Amino acid sequence: MSTQELIATAHSLVAPGKGILAADESNATIEKRLSKIGVTSTEAARRDYREMLFSAPGISEAISGVILYDETIRQKAADGTSFVDLLKKRGIVPGIKVDTGAKDLASCPGEKVTEGLDGLRDRFKEYYKLGARFAKWRAVININDGTPSETCLIANAEALARYAALAQEQSIVPIVEPEVIMDGAHGIERCEDATVRALVHVFSKLREHKVMLEGLLLKPNMILAGTEAANQPEIATVADRTVRTFLRYVPAAVPGIVFLSGGQSDELATAHLNEMNAKYPNVPWQLSFSYGRALQAPALKAWGGKPECVKSGAAAFAHRARLNSAARYGKYSPAMESQ
Ligand code: 13P
Repeated sequence: MSTQELIATAHSLVAPGKGILAADESNATIEKRLSKIGVTSTEAARRDYREMLFSAPGISEAISGVILYDETIRQKAADGTSFVDLLKKRGIVPGIKVDTGAKDLASCPGEKVTEGLDGLRDRFKEYYKLGARFAKWRAVININDGTPSETCLIANAEALARYAALAQEQSIVPIVEPEVIMDGAHGIERCEDATVRALVHVFSKLREHKVMLEGLLLKPNMILAGTEAANQPEIATVADRTVRTFLRYVPAAVPGIVFLSGGQSDELATAHLNEMNAKYPNVPWQLSFSYGRALQAPALKAWGGKPECVKSGAAAFAHRARLNSAARYGKYSPAMESQ
């Protein structure tokens, strides 16, 4: 393990004004996204789409790193440059999703545990050679009647900590992602409660497994009401609750909190991040983004799988990236959406 390398990489991923693009959809997930715009998910289509994102003009100021999928980290752009080299040349750090998905937790019907620990040390070694310098592992936590259970939270926290320890051993920065899912009609209090319980277990397990907090990033949900809740909180309420929760339960040694968008609209995900940075400029960690859908939705729509629309797809992505970059400084306003 190279401690200095881990710390330097973690800091570069949350450099001022920058955040992460999550482009690590599994083939099953990207197929769903592509089919919505009428595109068949072939290897070539997935490559063309991701090449459009990775080579979009002007994103280097806003995007510090990209999370790739196993297929993508091995792919090349049309001119033969590997995606890894393309990103590195633009000053963007390549990352890799290493979990193998959330599976049913046998002891807890309706709950999930994320798999992928078997053989992970060797996979990290290969990914490091391929150029990955950070990784992602996502735990899925559902709010439902009587859930999340302690059993589910502990099983996921243990897996996250074992993954993080292995990543650091191989000089790869782990992104630790306990995601409390937005689905449901629950109020914001239940999201806060589930998030707090998840964080307590995660940081306890990280300590047990001797993970160096200075060399990781936390990727959590924001504190939100369920998507079907009648009462949707104001932007300021989400910002206050989210920052309060993380101030209470995330040690100051962690360099950055990089939020997922989780199904929020792209504009709301930007507005929430902006409000946190505008109102709380002196928190101990960087507050940044590691968005998938909230960065990609406008690009997918503008591209539509048409070669003649690659330029507008890339421009739509770059625009969204710039708006989130502004939100990193608390300088975003909805008026900028149309500029
Ligand atoms: P969303 O921003 O679409 O939630 O994706 C981020 C991510 O990487 C989820 O694991």
